[in-house]
Amino acid sequence: MQLHLQTWPAIEHYLRDNRTVIMPIGSTEQHGPNGLLGTDAITAEAVARGVGEATGTLVAPVIAVGMAQHHLAFPGSMALRPGTLIAVIRDCVESLALHGFERFFFINGHGGNVASTTAAFSEIYAAASFGGGAGTRLRCTLRNWYETPGVAALSRELYGEQEGSHATPSEVALTWYLHPDRAMPMNLDPPVAPRGSFTDAADLRRNFPDGRIGSNPGLATIEHGKRIYDAAVHDLSRELRRWTCPSS
Ligand code: NI
Repeated sequence: MQLHLQTWPAIEHYLRDNRTVIMPIGSTEQHGPNGLLGTDAITAEAVARGVGEATGTLVAPVIAVGMAQHHLAFPGSMALRPGTLIAVIRDCVESLALHGFERFFFINGHGGNVASTTAAFSEIYAAASFGGGAGTRLRCTLRNWYETPGVAALSRELYGEQEGSHATPSEVALTWYLHPDRAMPMNLDPPVAPRGSFTDAADLRRNFPDGRIGSNPGLATIEHGKRIYDAAVHDLSRELRRWTCPSS
């Protein structure tokens, strides 16, 4: 059930017995020579929809631009500054909270979003704390689809050390499963990208000239992508059920 395909009376009806909403969050940024700019948003949105279907939970529109300043030296990349992303998340949560939503299960596709997203949760709680009173009923949590136990095990099995940390074969495979017409199998040179750290966009482009970090997305296949999708939806559906109903 996707929020943007519903009417307001349908949401009012949903809220009679469910106060939870899934919030997909991703990024629009370079993903190496054969990864799509929308990888992190496409994957987070698809996994969120799968979890929504499996658990009967409403799914909000994806937040498709994230904290990706470090990718801005590559054409097509877009970014929100940390403070902007914190404000966007807070406003999205508080909009839905006005109508009665209380539990916000964020499914994230981009490591660069983690710090700002958890800071946004702290801002939401801080507003209640500094206001005194009985506190807020809102609960927010963040899960990275690429780190669930099933996905991590699959990535180890399929790619080992060549998973890397950016433009990974796991995320590239998942986008190819979702958009097979955009699959671009390619032998990369070098096959495994360099590892290391970075600061700003110029530094990342200097250290990682084709945009990959430690990864070999040349290993990605559509069939892998289906297995990764199934594992992510399975794991996160179980986690959502446990989070909303700890006794289940
Ligand atoms: Ni990514």
